[in-house]
Amino acid sequence: AAAAPTTPAIVVIGAPGSGKSTVGALLADRLSLPFLDVDTVIEERAGKPIAEIFADDGEPVFRELEAAVTLELLDRQGVLSLGGGAVTSVRIREALAGHRVIWLRVTAGTAARRVGLNTARPLLLGNVHGTLVKLLAERQPLYAAVATEALDTDELDPAAVVDQLIKEP
Ligand code: S3P
Repeated sequence: AAAAPTTPAIVVIGAPGSGKSTVGALLADRLSLPFLDVDTVIEERAGKPIAEIFADDGEPVFRELEAAVTLELLDRQGVLSLGGGAVTSVRIREALAGHRVIWLRVTAGTAARRVGLNTARPLLLGNVHGTLVKLLAERQPLYAAVATEALDTDELDPAAVVDQLIKEP
């Protein structure tokens, strides 16, 4: 039988390098649900990578696009990975009410190692670890405010994270 049409999206949040996209895709697969990645849809809409949106148009334009796309995708069924900074938007935080919101917790050291030297993240150029320490300090209260569950992922690979999430819905 088809899933009830009103089932709200399952949302994955957390810092850059927390594993949102990898875990979200695996979780969607295990639950036989579509997977939606907000950053990817933003890039499709804008017709360019996020780093170029920041460089050409600035962060406020990116945040507007992010809020519009996130609010739109929250109405769909499936597993939805948000951008790491999505929780800084009041509109997005309010729209998360009523959803299963999974917070993938990570320490700055692990996040920095996972992000590596990938230059696709315009906020994480230069001192990656130092910037993550600062971003985590600012955002942890925001992730905590909207999450309905949290998982420490430092010691877990993505498959183990998904096993935990499926065990404890
Ligand atoms: C951002 C995180 C990125 C992306 C953009 C801004 C942030 O997503 O949305 O570069 O503010 O932390 P990831 O969390 O997938 O890296």
